[in-house]
Amino acid sequence: GDGMIQLKKDHEIEAMRLAGGVASTVLREAAAFVQPGVTTLEIDQFAGERIRHHGGKSAFLGYRNYPCEICISVNEEVVHGLASGRQVQFGDIVSLDVGVRYDGYIGDNATTVAVGGCDPAVQRLMEVTENALDEALDQALPGNKVIDISRAIQRCAEANGYSIVREFVGHGVGKKVHEDPQIPNFDDGSRRSPVLKPGMTLAIEPMVNLGQRHVEVLEDGWTVVARDGLPSAHFEHTILVTDGEPEILTCPGNLPSEPRES
Ligand code: MF3
Ligand code: CO
Repeated sequence: GDGMIQLKKDHEIEAMRLAGGVASTVLREAAAFVQPGVTTLEIDQFAGERIRHHGGKSAFLGYRNYPCEICISVNEEVVHGLASGRQVQFGDIVSLDVGVRYDGYIGDNATTVAVGGCDPAVQRLMEVTENALDEALDQALPGNKVIDISRAIQRCAEANGYSIVREFVGHGVGKKVHEDPQIPNFDDGSRRSPVLKPGMTLAIEPMVNLGQRHVEVLEDGWTVVARDGLPSAHFEHTILVTDGEPEILTCPGNLPSEPRES
């Protein structure tokens, strides 16, 4: 982008609460739908139906020609996994990333769940990644800088011996999926990190690898995988920077009360 960080107006924030309510509700619904034997295509179609049921549209389908309703990334897949006939199995972990457009504004969130159960070491990876997101939210205060968020995530992941993916980052979000600023999940050494201000809406999304940080993109042009083949976890919220604590926009309490006719 051009570095201009928009401060959202009240009516925009209200639309983003609704988008976030749908995005978080569908993320929970999709997570509950995951069980051994279900295919990623079934998960994707289910999520698409739930998004429409709640009056939204996928913010990802068609974005840069992205071909699916949501992103579904299994095990060593980090982000942007594509739906297919693959059946998820007991012991897999599945990252779900749901972006919803509602009244022209977007809510973006992600979670990682085990299929039935998983190795305790992998369970710990998921817990630490979610903790990294929580610690990042604690830094999303007015007057702090983007890099305070980045450092909190990196500290949490690396203190536990994990690696931070560098090629993909959090971002501003609003009418568009990706707006300024970029929000790296590590200290990128920049001396000009933007100051956080009330009215900024940010998608914060740590991607944490159990092994090495290096990733590659598969032949499909989308699926990002850990090069060493070890599992990766991803958690994301869309938040509003306020005068005080951040407001989590991607929360089920923000679900619009009247589902629209589809
Ligand atoms: N939450 C993801 C991101 O911010 C969404 C992927 S965008 C799509 O990058 F291109 F895959 F649709
Ligand atoms: Co995002």
